[in-house]
Amino acid sequence: MRLRRVTETAPQEAIDGSPGWKAWLEGPAQEIEIATHDDLQWADGVAMGTPTRYGNVSAQLKQFMDTTGPLWAQGLLAGKAYTGFTSAMNTHGGNESTLLALYNTLHHWGGVIVAPGYTDPALYAAGGNPYGTSHATGPNNEPPSDLVLTAARHQGSRLADIAGKLAG
Ligand SMILES: Cc1cc2nc3c(=O)[nH]c(=O)nc-3n(C[C@H](O)[C@H](O)[C@H](O)COP(=O)(O)O)c2cc1C
Repeated sequence: MRLRRVTETAPQEAIDGSPGWKAWLEGPAQEIEIATHDDLQWADGVAMGTPTRYGNVSAQLKQFMDTTGPLWAQGLLAGKAYTGFTSAMNTHGGNESTLLALYNTLHHWGGVIVAPGYTDPALYAAGGNPYGTSHATGPNNEPPSDLVLTAARHQGSRLADIAGKLAG
């Protein structure tokens, strides 16, 4: 398994204006390698996460996906398993629209979208989002509950299972 993050593209002044963002970027993020095209080629299955930005995919993740034209043109992104997860401040603040927007690009890649659906009771317990695990952070950007993490683990395990079958 490879854990990756995409390049931070926001202006420094925006980062400086958000203590949590700055602390994450200068701290734990430094331990995580930046995603490359090689990572996408290497993987049989990819779980992509993005916070909602006005009900949409973050510009940072979109920027990375928008550099993949050469891979796409060679069909190197097709036939792999993909899934998505997200967070928003509010339960109904755009979690579902963000995942559907993410899946637009993955459809164009020819990806096999592995949505969790309602394939496990953990999905219901975590709020019942069939498009992918989602976390409502609340105004204080709280971490996800154990219920949400359990649903995420089910989603990851399902991705690995289907990716393995696709890869033969
Ligand atoms: C530019 C921007 C737009 C956002 N739009 C929404 C939104 O439409 N609905 C919502 O519930 N939360 C919204 N949020 C809150 C984030 O989704 C929330 O902070 C995020 O899930 C936590 O990850 P973060 O720390 O990377 O922002 C927005 C945050 C930013 C910075």
